[in-house]
Amino acid sequence: MFSSSTLVYSLSLFLSLSLLFFLFILSPHILLSSSNLISTADDLDDLSLFHRAAVSSSTNNRRLISLSQNPPPKIAFLFLTNSDLTFLPLWESFFQGHQDLYNVYIHADPTSSVSPLLDSSSINAKFIPAKRTARASPTLISAERRLLANAILDDPNNLYFALISQHCIPLHSFSYIHNHLFSTNSDHHKSFIEILSDEPFLPKRYDARGEDAMLPEIRYQDFRVGSQFFVLAKRHALMVIKERKLWRKFKLPCLDVESCYPEEHYFPTLLSLEDPKGCSHFTLTRVNWTGSVGGHPHTYDASEVSPQLIHSLRRSNSSLDYFFARKFTPESLQPLMEIADAVIFRD
Ligand SMILES: *[C@@H]1O[C@H](CO)[C@@H](O)[C@H](O)[C@H]1NC(C)=O
Ligand SMILES: *[C@@H]1O[C@H](CO)[C@@H](O)[C@H](O)[C@H]1NC(C)=O
Repeated sequence: MFSSSTLVYSLSLFLSLSLLFFLFILSPHILLSSSNLISTADDLDDLSLFHRAAVSSSTNNRRLISLSQNPPPKIAFLFLTNSDLTFLPLWESFFQGHQDLYNVYIHADPTSSVSPLLDSSSINAKFIPAKRTARASPTLISAERRLLANAILDDPNNLYFALISQHCIPLHSFSYIHNHLFSTNSDHHKSFIEILSDEPFLPKRYDARGEDAMLPEIRYQDFRVGSQFFVLAKRHALMVIKERKLWRKFKLPCLDVESCYPEEHYFPTLLSLEDPKGCSHFTLTRVNWTGSVGGHPHTYDASEVSPQLIHSLRRSNSSLDYFFARKFTPESLQPLMEIADAVIFRD
């Protein structure tokens, strides 16, 4: 009796310890394989979407030229969210009165809670077929490319593509942004995307998928980093959805999850390889990294919102003011609405 219960006890202890051991060792892989990896089916789905968008764009180009008329150019606002759209009322005021000059597309993570809000909205947003997204994985690159492709397919007059998150707010009026983007002829539209090469963490990020894993497609000296938030000119949006070579590497899972932010590398690396002179190398989305915690920037709360804050967030060292800013807490919506007409949209 004594010996058999000891045996059972030791056996169950052994089993639970082994189970713990395996869970501990395998858990990153289990997590990776569930939501962070791109399945072949999803990848093929995307490929066919990107192909349709690229083909439609060349057909539309010919049609536009043959019509030889110039419809007003539009900005496609690409909203990427995995929660809700807290700042929707502010964006509604931003878009008001400009129906012919913009489109809104939303990639809402299937687990997010966005849709009911928008049914009654004046924005007329289009939900694009969305898939799961997760931090530290290539799923965000896929989501952003899906947004670009859907916007290209939907309206040939979309000539600029601005990526916006649920934490972003506008810092200027719609007219100000539209006028500044379209002040040059469309052959000369620049993309506004941050492209940096001298960051101390770059070697770790380059090796995140294993040493030399990016070779031969991407050499270290070509590897770049930049803010996730860009405003792309149409020719660059097309370049991004047609791209296959770098994607083959960027879709690999990271072994070093702490150094894995594929969306901060894929777009800057690609554009700096293909058309460095066509890009501003800075972003139009202001973010405050002072005192950042766990890779998240400073999040402004209601008590920090003031006309002075808006003015200081707009100020940049480049030729253009910042257009957008992040991040803000949901509570800051109310004070932002109060200064919207008198401060944010007055420029
Ligand atoms: C950036 O955030 C810090 C707090 O982390 C704050 O003290 C500072 O005022 C912020 N800068 C701007 C320009 O808002
Ligand atoms: C502008 O450049 C100065 C000097 O490099 C720097 O201290 C400041 O933070 C920059 N301002 C912005 C808004 O990036």
